[in-house]
Amino acid sequence: MTPARLREAREILRSNSREDRYTVPSAHLYPYQWAWDSAFIAVGWATFDRERALVELETLFSRQWPDGRVPHIAFWADTDTYFPGPAQWGRTDTSTITNPLVFALALERVVQRWGRMSPAVTSRMGQLLRRIERAHAFVATARDPLGIGAVACAHPWESGRDNCPAWDRAMARVDIEGVDASGRTDKAKVDDAAQRPTDEAYRGYLALVAAIREGGFGMGPFAVYDPFLTALLIRSDDALLRLAERFDVETDAARRSDRAAAALHASLFDGEGYVFLDARTSETQRLPLLAALQPLAARPPPGRIEALAEAREAFRHGYAAPTVAPTAEAFDPVCYWRGPVWINMNWLHEPVLGSCVRDGALALIERSGFREYFHPETGAGLGAERFAWSAALALDWSEPL
Ligand code: GLC
Repeated sequence: MTPARLREAREILRSNSREDRYTVPSAHLYPYQWAWDSAFIAVGWATFDRERALVELETLFSRQWPDGRVPHIAFWADTDTYFPGPAQWGRTDTSTITNPLVFALALERVVQRWGRMSPAVTSRMGQLLRRIERAHAFVATARDPLGIGAVACAHPWESGRDNCPAWDRAMARVDIEGVDASGRTDKAKVDDAAQRPTDEAYRGYLALVAAIREGGFGMGPFAVYDPFLTALLIRSDDALLRLAERFDVETDAARRSDRAAAALHASLFDGEGYVFLDARTSETQRLPLLAALQPLAARPPPGRIEALAEAREAFRHGYAAPTVAPTAEAFDPVCYWRGPVWINMNWLHEPVLGSCVRDGALALIERSGFREYFHPETGAGLGAERFAWSAALALDWSEPL
């Protein structure tokens, strides 16, 4: 990236920072702290302010629930500019669902950039690791309704990939009768509402929020096993294990990771690719999604990477990897998680697709700025502007360790 873009990236993190302790994804669209956003954001902070990186994660984990879950939103600010807010979730402090486990991966990056550590920082690292351990334990148990060892999501928002085609079938079964999405604030904040999920999808999201609230914050009616979330549990547990050894913290990561790897590479693999398994209907679906390649970064069995060469090729496409293969029926180049390029997904898939995703993603940012997502064919920027994880991960890529 050019020096001007690098300066801009740091400036975006500084100006999206609130109270010097958390960073909003976008000042315009997302006014609170989002969990997996903060992990990526910490990776960016670590390139020029490591203390601020650690504080970002500490702030997030200060709202961890007693059961270990790290809610996907922490409502630090008092604002009515985001919907659904505290009233819909039924809590004033946080949302009630989780987010992909990327915290140990992020913390490992922070540690790698830190260098020599004082005893006080070492002790803070230990405390954070004990909290991350509890977050992993929560997901491995409370998000495995069939007890198979893999990770399911209770809401599309738990996957971080809101309207990804993988959720369409299960969402079609959610009862949205009488659910009103007219409180949405997001559509008017982007250039074109076609870049955001439909109202029908939103009614489903709200129905699930209500069902989870009424059911006492368990899983609710939606439960789909996700190869992406499962692969991230494995990658994060492996990072946690390395960190736990260094900081002398007790962890069950080795056992959890082995169990999840066995489930992922057998139960969520149908011989040709990784599948989504609906825990409520037992139906599986194989879809041409970038997220379905994440298992190849999570201890794949011998020969598996080569066997999926063709599937991988579909994502080596123009500017960086799109979220849905352009040949797929569901592909939509402008609509959110149904085709556009996302910077964090490219960062997470570099071990699978190689450095072309880094080069493609940085070229996109050079061309269109730090947007939330991008049109895979034209490279045009979409969604929010000055989006924090796009800035953070570009910084990480631009400053190799
Ligand atoms: C959207 C994205 C989600 C992200 C959040 C805040 O809901 O789909 O992944 O965490 O915005 O940026």
